[in-house]
Amino acid sequence: MKLSSTFIALALAAVSFASPAARAGSGYVQTSGQAFTLDGAPYTVYGENSYWVGLSGYSTDQMNQAFSDIAATGGTTVRTWGFNDVNSTTASDHPVYYQYFDGKNITVNTGANGLANFDNVVAAAKANNIKLIVTLTNNWGDYGGMDVYVNSILGYGQPHDYFYSNPDVIAAYKNYVKAFVSRYANEPTIFGWELANEPRCGGSTPASSGTCTTKTITTWIQDISSYIKTVDSNHLVGLGDEGWFNWANSTSDWTSNGSNGIDFDANLAISSIDFGTFHLYPGTWQESSPSYDQWGQTWIQNHRNSQVTANKPVLLEEFGVTVSQDQTQTYNDWYSTAINGGLSGVIIWQAGSNYSSGNSPDDGFTVYPGTDAYNVVKTFSAEIKKRDGTS
Ligand SMILES: *[C@@H]1O[C@H](CO)[C@@H](O)[C@H](O)[C@H]1NC(C)=O
Ligand SMILES: *[C@@H]1O[C@H](CO)[C@@H](O)[C@H](O)[C@H]1NC(C)=O
Ligand SMILES: *[C@@H]1O[C@H](CO)[C@@H](O)[C@H](O)[C@H]1NC(C)=O
Ligand SMILES: *[C@@H]1O[C@H](CO)[C@@H](O)[C@H](O)[C@H]1NC(C)=O
Ligand SMILES: *[C@@H]1O[C@H](CO)[C@@H](O)[C@H](O)[C@H]1NC(C)=O
Repeated sequence: MKLSSTFIALALAAVSFASPAARAGSGYVQTSGQAFTLDGAPYTVYGENSYWVGLSGYSTDQMNQAFSDIAATGGTTVRTWGFNDVNSTTASDHPVYYQYFDGKNITVNTGANGLANFDNVVAAAKANNIKLIVTLTNNWGDYGGMDVYVNSILGYGQPHDYFYSNPDVIAAYKNYVKAFVSRYANEPTIFGWELANEPRCGGSTPASSGTCTTKTITTWIQDISSYIKTVDSNHLVGLGDEGWFNWANSTSDWTSNGSNGIDFDANLAISSIDFGTFHLYPGTWQESSPSYDQWGQTWIQNHRNSQVTANKPVLLEEFGVTVSQDQTQTYNDWYSTAINGGLSGVIIWQAGSNYSSGNSPDDGFTVYPGTDAYNVVKTFSAEIKKRDGTS
């Protein structure tokens, strides 16, 4: 889509830097208005997701290849999972796990197949000059997440959304957050923490209290994000959500009427939330009007408007369409809309590596080296670095 020149001028003004020198030498990524900085200079947030690099028993060589494949596209920042919750420690089922739930007896695994494995992920990222956005639990059932807390602590079949409101569950999650975050509090390779992947009132299990609203989750975000700041004041904190709006003028559009329990603007206004996050999957969301591509461009622009209003950075931190959904053209248009429009940063779902033992996981959106999508990712890393003056 062609942007109006006024829109571009406003956008470029928005990404300039207020007083970067004031924060020189911290070693940690910081925010300055709608931009990110590192040691007083602009820091470009651009890269890929690799949820899998620390989860499935990849060797340190494979971790290194994962990050070097991303670095070869010009990536600076990778989003990954900092959770892996299990209720059985059978090694064949769980070669790596970070937390074991034996009913209410919950143990953080700091061993070689636990957080020591995540230490290797951090070292491999650092060796490739990559910083990590680490997400601390999952709305969905993959790798444990919220339902393991609820089921283990409150009993099977209890509502998913009790994760946000039950005091015992909240205490257990804070205990994990403290163990994980404090381990890396002085590690500059960490870009920042995210509270959860795609938090919603509803989850992978059908059970719901019927009482969860945007206020329920906003209150939880205030509590957990301010708690993280007490454990680790060095790193940025974001949410990790899909970016649903709760617009007063929207009644019959589930992406903007608050029905998932997320109010993007209210959450971005929380003082202990440093940056906003949103995702974009119009194919999965069945948003094809007027096309997946166009719907996505509007979604990006709407979040960029919120970025300006809040005067905080906002990241498009997951997106995908399949090859059959006009992938290359769509990615070109979305990257252009985000970068030329002044969105703070962009991270695609998801990185892929071709290992000699076989490829990393493919969910239909994986960007493997040597593919058309990989070349698009590479092309736009140069564009965003030019915009930010970081090339
Ligand atoms: C572990 O969780 C699964 C669901 O994820 C459940 O079916 C199973 O009963 C649980 N096992 C134990 C020992 O709690
Ligand atoms: C809790 O789990 C840990 C680790 O599995 C175990 O060593 C400990 O004995 C358990 N405590 C209770 C009270 O079951
Ligand atoms: C609804 O409100 C949002 C947020 O203020 C605004 O961006 C959007 O244009 C409005 N939509 C309509 C149809 O008025
Ligand atoms: C939001 O819109 C969806 C349709 O997209 C509808 O099913 C739902 O009932 C609406 N929810 C609210 C709270 O308005
Ligand atoms: C990696 O695997 C993908 C998917 O099979 C393939 O399309 C691509 O060509 C492979 N890349 C290389 C460099 O072998």
